[in-house]
Amino acid sequence: MSQSVNEQTVNKDWVTLCGIHDLVANSGICALVAKPSEQGEQLEKQIAIFSIPDSEEKVFAVDNFDPIGQANVLYRGIVGSNNGEPIVASPLYKQQFSLKTGTCLQEEAEIAAYPTRIQDQAIQVYI
Ligand code: FES
Repeated sequence: MSQSVNEQTVNKDWVTLCGIHDLVANSGICALVAKPSEQGEQLEKQIAIFSIPDSEEKVFAVDNFDPIGQANVLYRGIVGSNNGEPIVASPLYKQQFSLKTGTCLQEEAEIAAYPTRIQDQAIQVYI
């Protein structure tokens, strides 16, 4: 049976999710990450990856699950900035989540934000 990736039971590591050419500037894509837990169970999680060429980081990765809309939709959200903070606005109810920290700017909610890096044309996420 699969369940969400639980940060307590999975050792974090850099995982290659896609190539830099899979990304579209100023929008998001979605990747399914599967990792074995210490118990040998397969844990799955959807990650939303955003390319923002004008930002210092260039690429951001956060949970695809919108905790307010309760759906895996954030990769389809509108990318922008709020007072210089790169954000994605949920396509459901338009709440903005910081792509750096995962904090929701309008409500008490939070999603996980993951470190990213570009390695030999590949997008890697620390998860
Ligand atoms: S690739 Fe996961 S929903 Fe599109």
